[in-house]
Amino acid sequence: MKSKASSPGKVILFGEHFVVYGVKAILCAIDKRITVTAETISENKILIKSNIGNLELEPNKKISEINSPLKPFYYLADKLIKNQNVGIQIDVESDIPLGVGLGSSSACCVAGAAAISRLFSNTSKEQILELAIEAERTIFENTSGADCTVCTYGGIMEYDKKKGFNKIKSEPNFHLVIANSNIEHSTKSVVESVKEFKEKNEESFSILCDKESKLIEDVLKSLKENNMKELGNKIIENQEYLERIGISNEKLRKMIQIGQRKSFGAKITGAGGGGCIFALTDESNLEQTMNQFKDENYDCFSVKIDFKGLDTF
Ligand code: MEV
Repeated sequence: MKSKASSPGKVILFGEHFVVYGVKAILCAIDKRITVTAETISENKILIKSNIGNLELEPNKKISEINSPLKPFYYLADKLIKNQNVGIQIDVESDIPLGVGLGSSSACCVAGAAAISRLFSNTSKEQILELAIEAERTIFENTSGADCTVCTYGGIMEYDKKKGFNKIKSEPNFHLVIANSNIEHSTKSVVESVKEFKEKNEESFSILCDKESKLIEDVLKSLKENNMKELGNKIIENQEYLERIGISNEKLRKMIQIGQRKSFGAKITGAGGGGCIFALTDESNLEQTMNQFKDENYDCFSVKIDFKGLDTF
């Protein structure tokens, strides 16, 4: 038996980090995907093959003893083959750059949960999302759940850790230019550093959360009006808040400056500390923005919103 699923990556447009503390975030899925193929095998083993390496283990291992970025797949396979009397082989193909804030690990969790669970039953999107968040927690316990949610449902959405998500009805036609700092980051440790900042600066952190909430409400209006200039200004404002909580650095600041020369606005996306920044563009300034990065030898590419989300075959 074989089952296949693919999930898009994501960009957090507004609200990363603050979303962990209950502020709304705005995210979109992007047109770069991860595809997972799961197949039952007669051997009592869990085999995972990917372009970042392979993992081969017997079932029933303690999750805390597995030290591999492929751990979420093992967690899902081990959980879902219980009482099935089979082993499983999982193949992962990705066109999302890994570990740079574009949702590669949440897309793996979503596509993995879908491909593996649908070998045995007709799981719904809601159940797949629940499984994906459980799997993500094996590598990053404190996740807000935002990334897996947008990777499952696609499109552009507002996300609230407690209340869940709301799809944004307008279908903005913007292009995001993504530039990669090639500085590796761990979401878990950057989120921990923000927690330390919060604990040392409760009052200013709370003021920043209020400002971010207000900004998100304004952004929702600008999105309805498709007001790119205003959205760009809000992106620049959001970047200032991210600077304050200490997740930026010199290289990211330089890249944001380059991004802001021709686009409507640029900011870090995702955990920060490294990873990617994005610049908001439309047809009028897409090419010029790409050229700014290329001229200074930065890795860059453009993406559009993926409206499909999780796909199963
Ligand atoms: C990481 O892509 C986004 C963070 O806000 C963490 C989270 O929401 O779980 C930094």
